[in-house]
Amino acid sequence: MLGIETSCDETGVGIVRGSTLLADAVASSVAEHARFGGVVPEVASRAHLEAMVPTVRRALATAGVRGRDLDAIAVTAGPGLAGALLVGVAAAKAYALALDKPLYGIHHLSAHVAVDTLEHGPLPSPCVALLVSGGHSSLLLVSDITAPVTVLGATIDDAAGEAFDKVARVLGLPFPGGPEIDAHARAGDPAAVAFPRALAGARDPAYDFSFSGLKTAVARWVQARQRVGEAVPLADVSASFQEAVADVLTAKAVLACRDTGVADLLLGGGVAANSRLRALAEQRCAAAGLRLRVPRPALCTDNGAMVAAMGSLLVDAGVPPDSLDLSVDPAWELA
Ligand code: KG4
Ligand code: ZN
Repeated sequence: MLGIETSCDETGVGIVRGSTLLADAVASSVAEHARFGGVVPEVASRAHLEAMVPTVRRALATAGVRGRDLDAIAVTAGPGLAGALLVGVAAAKAYALALDKPLYGIHHLSAHVAVDTLEHGPLPSPCVALLVSGGHSSLLLVSDITAPVTVLGATIDDAAGEAFDKVARVLGLPFPGGPEIDAHARAGDPAAVAFPRALAGARDPAYDFSFSGLKTAVARWVQARQRVGEAVPLADVSASFQEAVADVLTAKAVLACRDTGVADLLLGGGVAANSRLRALAEQRCAAAGLRLRVPRPALCTDNGAMVAAMGSLLVDAGVPPDSLDLSVDPAWELA
């Protein structure tokens, strides 16, 4: 199964055989967006167009297979940037038509869940999935990822990764901010500043998230220091902000498992690469008697292998392929 991912700024092409990863080639246009402080859709589309064929060739060479050896093509059809998705879907259709292979349109978030099968085997059923990335933050109840899932909660404003990226900008760190804050936080005190935990009260929606207030609180705290000419303690602010995000995410994920009687928690999405989120999730799952599954960081951020993994699960489940009329759906609802 060849999988193509172009929903944001990574051109990902992965190849799997069943749940065995054969190749995972990624070309990122992140450097081209850095000076704008965020992903510029038209720049991303153009970069996908340029990277697509070389990245497919690289994946085929790594896997040691030829196009005609493939059984099927899977491609992210949504959600994501419309123009970026179009490049991937057009390429996937071209390969499917030229090689005479079936085509599978994949939901990006389901692929973030499915990718874990490449590392840890079949998904436990049921499981709770916490998906946190630049574009989405959701808690899902998944009994079968090839069938409809239950959305337990989601962010009501900024996504977790978006908060990392915006706070990094306030701190003068480059885009994308997640890995930068993660690195600076290592030398900081997570208890240095008591940043707010949103929607954590007894009357708040138990499984929804909000990160916009936290982002504003960090900006205010930093600006107050800057106004009086005080140095901003980068490591402490990074660590304290990161702690607030990791605290809320893990508390709600563990609560969702407890309330639904589910014993397995799965993390996915780019923010699941965060070292503190991984450590705190491990600690809290152990304390609550839950099993935790987190793919290695390179499989958490966007890649083509996750799309191939999801395509492979659809084939195993006997789901019929899509037609060549498949269109992108930038706002595709997961449920
Ligand atoms: O899943 P992903 O690659 O793309 C989307 O689907 O959005 O996630 C990208 C997001 C960015 O916001 C980035 O800052 C964040 O994931 N991220 C991290 C880390 N690595 C990537 N956030 C916190 N800590 C990290 N180590
Ligand atoms: Zn993603």
